[in-house]
Amino acid sequence: MAPRKLAAGNWKMNGDLAALDQIDAMAEAVKGASCDVLICPPALLIPAMIAKGVVAVGGQDCHAEASGAHTGDISGQMLRDAGATHVILGHSERRADHHETDETVRAKALAAHRAGLIAIICLGETGDQRDGGHTLQVIAAQLAGSVPEGATAANTVIAYEPVWAIGTGRTPTIPQIAEVHARLRADLSDRLSDGAEVSLLYGGSVKGANAAEIFAIPHVDGALVGGASLKAADFLPIVAALD
Ligand code: G3P
Repeated sequence: MAPRKLAAGNWKMNGDLAALDQIDAMAEAVKGASCDVLICPPALLIPAMIAKGVVAVGGQDCHAEASGAHTGDISGQMLRDAGATHVILGHSERRADHHETDETVRAKALAAHRAGLIAIICLGETGDQRDGGHTLQVIAAQLAGSVPEGATAANTVIAYEPVWAIGTGRTPTIPQIAEVHARLRADLSDRLSDGAEVSLLYGGSVKGANAAEIFAIPHVDGALVGGASLKAADFLPIVAALD
């Protein structure tokens, strides 16, 4: 089976109840889309966004345990209970701001799987790593360290997000994205029996204007979109390019 196509929005720490009007504005286009459409808003907006019934809804992080004394944290179980289907894990902003390691991400992904969530595991090189010629080595190590036992195409999505491309308006060249996605596909196929079916997303300054050429790259099955997912007018052209 071919990997599922997924247009995913990561609202990060943006949005409020009024911003949910953007979801209403997506309703018609999403209804007709053949790809999956997901938005991961701040946790407080998850129930209200799910109530709209327009897009699939995910969290932006979860704890590695199902419950307990972890002030301020949310478990995968809680996200699932609220109706979320996905959770973003290991985003570079969490790896940087919260010192998350591959080991942390792997433990969280296991917890997400136990809770019945699809884990969107993020990885990507920094600008220095890219300039130093270490990109493939870095992403292979992150993949090996972050993807847990029991990962399958049904419960795991991988998002390649070069740190230097996030929110900067800069994107890698087409051959650079192609090279990384081919390596991710090869490593996943070596490791998982259904690795050829795992959806591989590209993330980092995706917008309507560059989406089609990015989606034409082999082994790019969709996008994880930050800034351009906040407004329907910016996000829907990306969904249309994938469709
Ligand atoms: O997770 C999405 C992301 O980090 C990319 O952000 O704003 O460059 O699309 P942006």
